[in-house]
Amino acid sequence: MSVAKKEYKRVTVKSLIDMKTNGEKISMLTAYDYTMAKIVDGAGIDVILVGDSASNVMAGHETTLPITLDQMIYHASSVVRAIDRALVVVDLPFGSYQSDPKEALRSAIRIMKESGGHAVKMEGGKEVKESIKRILHAGVPVMGHLGLTPQSIYKFGTYTVRAKEEQEAKKLKEDALMLEKAGCFGIVLEKIPAKLAEEVAKSVSIPVIGIGAGAGVDGQVLVTHDMIGMTHEFNPRFLRRYMNLYEDMTNAFSQYAEDIKRGDFPSDKEQY
Ligand code: KIV
Repeated sequence: MSVAKKEYKRVTVKSLIDMKTNGEKISMLTAYDYTMAKIVDGAGIDVILVGDSASNVMAGHETTLPITLDQMIYHASSVVRAIDRALVVVDLPFGSYQSDPKEALRSAIRIMKESGGHAVKMEGGKEVKESIKRILHAGVPVMGHLGLTPQSIYKFGTYTVRAKEEQEAKKLKEDALMLEKAGCFGIVLEKIPAKLAEEVAKSVSIPVIGIGAGAGVDGQVLVTHDMIGMTHEFNPRFLRRYMNLYEDMTNAFSQYAEDIKRGDFPSDKEQY
């Protein structure tokens, strides 16, 4: 059990800010269903992200764009039922907040009411500032997401490292300050140079959680299915695999099939 787990019986947005103040790193992982969320929460992970990466991982889409608000609510409500301790942050999916602040607020309210999630995350900086402010005004905690923002993949054209050029780095720094000033409780920085991420983390008082953004930030997030090796075709440099479940599960499934074919399963002891 982690030190954090003892100290914070229930993780809140306030606990995350305290963790940053006390120099305690924040752990965050994704989950999209009850069973996985139960394990992740039980392991003492501080924040569970119901990411729109569910569009890739659970539904097999090439991008995060197709997942709907209803589908995100379904995933998030399954996760919330499993949680005793972690803070549950739910992604607002593509198309649910970009058009205008009123629609953004309606989407955030649906997530909070229908899933029981504790906060929402949205991609982008000053382009979505008014929507962020409106959601925050309604009392819903918001986490920002800058750097590689997968909902804009067709604008970028690739999933390569972002903000390597001065101009984009400058905008990212300004956006991070804007998110803090607007009242966001945290920011995810995805796939940007480590030096820039560290500079951003030092420039704001809210926690900065990195994915492919180096060690100089306040916490780390990974997609659970990638870090336990259930997926195996996605191999970015920032990904540390803690298990090779793809291989273990393939072996288990083929062993099961073989046992059935050979008439070995079920045995005498495995029947009534
Ligand atoms: O959807 C997601 O899983 C995310 C993480 C990659 C941060 O946004």
